[in-house]
Amino acid sequence: MVDHPLFTDFTYDNLGVPRNAEIAANSNPAYFDLGLCDRDDMKTRSDWCGAFKVPSLRNVALRPVFFHNGKFKTLKEALVFYVQRDTHPEKWYPVNPDGSIQKFDDLPSKYRVNVNTEEAPYDRHPGEVPALNDAEIDDVIAFLKTLNDGWTGR
Ligand code: HEM
Repeated sequence: MVDHPLFTDFTYDNLGVPRNAEIAANSNPAYFDLGLCDRDDMKTRSDWCGAFKVPSLRNVALRPVFFHNGKFKTLKEALVFYVQRDTHPEKWYPVNPDGSIQKFDDLPSKYRVNVNTEEAPYDRHPGEVPALNDAEIDDVIAFLKTLNDGWTGR
């Protein structure tokens, strides 16, 4: 029997994806999609607020939007976010008049501590070199395109 890989590890994680102003509900600054801790059996687990399921990367190159809130419209943008979230946070989050950055702005401030800041490539700091350069990102995208299976939905 052939085992078909699913290209997800079935875990949940908190990537701190930026807020998407295109979502109508987000016009209310008090509204947040909290992800896993909003599930009925997880209401007491505030440490999981902001975590979303790792989706399968099968056919990922065919998707029109990326991440739970559709913040990014291209795979390239999603991957540049991965490697530059912490090295260039001003590219992804609102910047206050005093120059401070509203990092992880799609979560209430009390839950921002839940965002993964330990695993590569999220273990970097402003000014450091991103984990992948532009050519390496393109190489990852070329690999991700090999996960397209040709299914057309018919
Ligand atoms: C080379 C390594 C990786 C690549 C190429 C990659 C790629 C991607 C892409 C393209 C998406 C968006 C998929 C979609 O919305 O349909 C995604 C989502 C996600 N990935 Fe990764 N990923 C990688 C590593 C990781 C790691 C190390 C973690 C956990 C520490 C992780 C956790 C997640 C989670 C939780 C989501 C969903 C986030 C959300 O919807 O807010 N990924 N990944």
